[in-house]
Amino acid sequence: MATLIRNLSQIATPLGRTALRGRAMRELAIHEQSVIVVRDGRFAFVGRERDLPSEIRIDNDFDAHGATAVPGFVDSHTHIAFAGLRESEFNRRLQGETYEQIAASGGGIASTVRATRAASEEELTANVLARGTTMARYGTTTAEAKSGYGLDLDAELRQLRSIRAAEAKSPVRLVPTCLAAHEFPPETRGDTQARERYIATIIEQILPAVASEKLAIFCDAFVERGVFTRDQGEAVLRAGEALGMIPRLHADELSDTDGAALAASLGAASADHLMQISESGIAALAASDTVANLLPATSFFLMAERYAPARALIDRGAIVSLSTDCNPGTSMTESMQIVMQLATLQMKMTVEESLTAATLNGAHSLRLAEETGSIEPGKRADFVLLDASSYLHLVYHFGVNLVSSVFRDGVRVA
Ligand code: NIG
Ligand code: FE
Repeated sequence: MATLIRNLSQIATPLGRTALRGRAMRELAIHEQSVIVVRDGRFAFVGRERDLPSEIRIDNDFDAHGATAVPGFVDSHTHIAFAGLRESEFNRRLQGETYEQIAASGGGIASTVRATRAASEEELTANVLARGTTMARYGTTTAEAKSGYGLDLDAELRQLRSIRAAEAKSPVRLVPTCLAAHEFPPETRGDTQARERYIATIIEQILPAVASEKLAIFCDAFVERGVFTRDQGEAVLRAGEALGMIPRLHADELSDTDGAALAASLGAASADHLMQISESGIAALAASDTVANLLPATSFFLMAERYAPARALIDRGAIVSLSTDCNPGTSMTESMQIVMQLATLQMKMTVEESLTAATLNGAHSLRLAEETGSIEPGKRADFVLLDASSYLHLVYHFGVNLVSSVFRDGVRVA
């Protein structure tokens, strides 16, 4: 079955089956007034209609009405498998309390842990599906999804099972990560020994159970002042890796703990956040294959002065990707469009770099760049039609949803 997508004003895409760095992040392939052919869920042809090879038989056609096609967005850092929302804490932050003060008073991650532990697997699945549906409406076709609001064996497994259950029906492809090392469980507050025991529980019970049910591709940890130390984060990630899970790391988010260098030394798929990354951390990522995954909606939503140093990272040659960090505390959004707008307007990335970061480079960090992240023959037909005459509108025409249709594996999902 081949479908011709015709009447496109423009197709704009990075190219390749691996991540791009440095100046190559700006080099999009741009096809004006062109067509896409999708066959058996993959791109079969991209270019001028008159160059369409005669052996491609068209069964259907789809009028794009002058839309611009870009690759489906890849959101490589989300926390969508949670219950409960935190709008009152958000309102307290608006009145001057800080995120860390709210966490210290028993709110923050701990309040989402309480709500998530109380939720059934079915409720969590429904929440993942609802957020996945919103993501798809905003152009995302692949999203990573972390656990980390269970913080005990049963609830971590329940979160990961809910991600798996949602995947069967979800419009976005979901890639699971075990983040049992997101925080210490609320019941271990102020008890150093109980905290050490939780790390042992992660290593000896949670990760082996996750591995035996094959519930996660990746393993993550939150290395942060007052949360997990570098050594604790490293122990968790090495244990995950020994069980076949690829490491990722929440690094240098609220304070510089040399997390970026740790991620690079572990060969992690990504080092995420990096608002407080040091010069040596930038150098470590630039010299590595670890993706610097930047989450500017988190700085925006926390009203932080600092954004991650995207320009320095790109100019020094690190691989940069962009993600929402969708979670109820620090970034309550499913929209990769606002992330690209903040990346460009606040972090001074170019629109071209932002698009590459939000597609191919994110796919690379999820080990999916051979399959998705760009519009080119052979890859899965994951793409978005924008109600716009060029990709520049992704940032220029900000604050609205430009997406008119979304295709995943060649099937229209939004
Ligand atoms: O990525 N950094 C830690 N975790 C989340 C926040 C989670 C929450 O507040 O619920 C983050 O920003
Ligand atoms: Fe996060």
